[in-house]
Amino acid sequence: MSETMMISLTVNGQRYQRQVEPRLLLSDFLRHELDLTGTHVGCEHGVCGACTILVDGVAVRSCLMFAVQADGCELLTVEGLAPGPEQLHPLQAAFRQAHALQCGFCTPGFLMTLAPWLAQHPNPTDEEIRLALSGNLCRCTGYQHIVEAVKMAAEIC
Ligand code: FES
Ligand code: FES
Repeated sequence: MSETMMISLTVNGQRYQRQVEPRLLLSDFLRHELDLTGTHVGCEHGVCGACTILVDGVAVRSCLMFAVQADGCELLTVEGLAPGPEQLHPLQAAFRQAHALQCGFCTPGFLMTLAPWLAQHPNPTDEEIRLALSGNLCRCTGYQHIVEAVKMAAEIC
């Protein structure tokens, strides 16, 4: 039987304690231990950006972290992005309005990458937006609707 470690962390404002194997990826911990399946897993080696979440306010790829490394941290996943059950985050509202959801699989990663970035770049240019999106891979339709959504969200914020 493999060794396990106790970790405690906060996810979307809720405190969790779990006994985990040190080799467990943070993305798998979120999906399989906490049932937070909004965090998607594409490449599992840090390339696609689908698994992006916030750790202590910073966008990180949860497939590149072990769950034990998040011990004591405050996490935000896409499930916690909206301010309330009847309210969307401005990015979510803009994605819906600008038809930026596209395949949908990559959307949580796009949103979690953009949320802290937009807070620091309230008036972004198209070029800045495309650069910010360059770590999130989209193979379906291109990025045009997503760029439009980010500009729309910047106006709403
Ligand atoms: S699943 Fe983590 S970057 Fe692709
Ligand atoms: S948004 Fe998922 S592949 Fe384009």
